[in-house]
Amino acid sequence: MNRELADRAEIGADDHVLDCGCGVGGSSVWLAAERDPTVTGVDLVPLQLQEARELAAERGVADRAAFARGDFTDLPLPADSVDVVWGHRGGSLGQSASPVVGPRRERGRPA
Ligand SMILES: C[S@@+](CC[C@H](N)C(=O)[O-])C[C@H]1O[C@@H](n2cnc3c(N)ncnc32)[C@H](O)[C@@H]1O
Repeated sequence: MNRELADRAEIGADDHVLDCGCGVGGSSVWLAAERDPTVTGVDLVPLQLQEARELAAERGVADRAAFARGDFTDLPLPADSVDVVWGHRGGSLGQSASPVVGPRRERGRPA
């Protein structure tokens, strides 16, 4: 699933990916390791974030995958600071993250 979504969104090294509801960081770490973007994982649960940081360190991608506690419906990120919003099993994202997404946000969306 990660590979298919990353292919659709054409995620690459120049991208900043926001992983909404990142959980223990599986997708964030996979992306950082396989596609080389900068990833910010956001979740509400501190213990999961800690596990995500440990996983990133274990896989050697802690320099590209960072994790922060936050509500993805209300993030203090500057406008256009994100290229791709990633929401794997994170519930309904709706348009809530749109203000922080740059002009390429439509990548990977079904036609
Ligand atoms: C089913 S888990 C999916 C985790 C991960 N994306 C995966 O695919 O393995 C959903 C995650 O979304 C987080 N979550 C739910 N609502 C959230 C919100 N408003 N802001 C941030 N995280 C949220 C939960 O804490 C949980 O870790």
